[in-house]
Amino acid sequence: MCYSIYVTPQGISFPASQRGSPPPIFRRVSPALETLLLPFSRGEFTVPKQALFLGAEPHPDLKEWPEVTGWQPSKPLADAWEKAGFGRMEQTGESWPLVMLLPGKSREETLAAFARGYDLLRDGGSLVVAIANTAGAARFEKDLQEVAGKVDSVQKHKCRCFRAVKTAAWNAATLAEWRQFGEPRQIPSTEFIVEAGIFSADHIDPGSALLAEHLPANFRGSVADLGAGWGFLSRAVLEKNLKLKALHLYEADARALACARKNLPETAVPIEYHWHDVSAGLPNKYENIVMNPPFHSGQSTDISLGRAFLRTAADSLRTGGRLFMVANRQLPYEPELERLGLVWRKVAEDSVYKVIFAERRMLR
Ligand SMILES: C[S@@+](CC[C@H](N)C(=O)[O-])C[C@H]1O[C@@H](n2cnc3c(N)ncnc32)[C@H](O)[C@@H]1O
Repeated sequence: MCYSIYVTPQGISFPASQRGSPPPIFRRVSPALETLLLPFSRGEFTVPKQALFLGAEPHPDLKEWPEVTGWQPSKPLADAWEKAGFGRMEQTGESWPLVMLLPGKSREETLAAFARGYDLLRDGGSLVVAIANTAGAARFEKDLQEVAGKVDSVQKHKCRCFRAVKTAAWNAATLAEWRQFGEPRQIPSTEFIVEAGIFSADHIDPGSALLAEHLPANFRGSVADLGAGWGFLSRAVLEKNLKLKALHLYEADARALACARKNLPETAVPIEYHWHDVSAGLPNKYENIVMNPPFHSGQSTDISLGRAFLRTAADSLRTGGRLFMVANRQLPYEPELERLGLVWRKVAEDSVYKVIFAERRMLR
């Protein structure tokens, strides 16, 4: 059976057909996960006593496995994994008989994950990977085959699942090159440290740069940076405002947050880093919020996540508090700001982006 998996702040539910419409924000149907588990459920691959799942996402079949440990840098998915009852680890330094992998979107991140999978396996262990055809499954399978010498492959749900067994014959030079892709590195001509797979991993986002140009230097009180990424906007805030009461970064991607820790200077301003799902709300209220909200762009643009960021921002501003945001020009956030009771003005725009400042006005 092909399940639809819905990840919500409350956890995970399947199959969705029995539960009515899922909340749009975290709807996540994962044919790659179905394909990953298919050869195990058909008995073609053996389920070992222990397995490590990189990019872990929950699935009912995994409940039948003796022990699966997950690694997941995305906070909403990590929460869903734990809420489904699975164990999670942040450091993965063991030697496993099976490493399963659902890689991220970037090529470098995927190749680095292949090398990481190899390093985490014991000799004779299996690396099993699933990737959607549209995400370059055939090419990645070929990459792995060239390094490992042989792979077994299954195709289903418009995805490929392929397995390579760890032997001494894997090409050490290519593995070393792939390992490098996973190392933190500097964005050329800047001091910023980034990592493959995180947002804007090889440049400063031009929308965020436009917002930074227009950020004021008169922030009072505390500032929250929602979806802080590797810390660009927080750093811009700090550079202009050295007397803040506090700066709190909220980011779902643990790897990006780790980079942000390296990218912010030592100052007298108390800084907190929260690995956090912004759509679930914030634990504090703020005088100022900065953000470049995420949105999903696929065949059609989905701004439900961006809207959730706006709701959280509106809920988390103190009366009189100000929101400073940037978005692609075509994204209709203004009506949402009005619905949330914020008074907004467009401060700048270029051919792609608009900078909006909004305010939670004092009650009269
Ligand atoms: C458009 S990027 C902006 C990143 C950073 N502020 C910058 O200007 O470079 C949006 C960020 O939101 C993060 N994000 C996505 N979903 C999130 C969620 N539910 N909670 C918190 N952060 C999230 C992404 O990982 C990404 O770093």
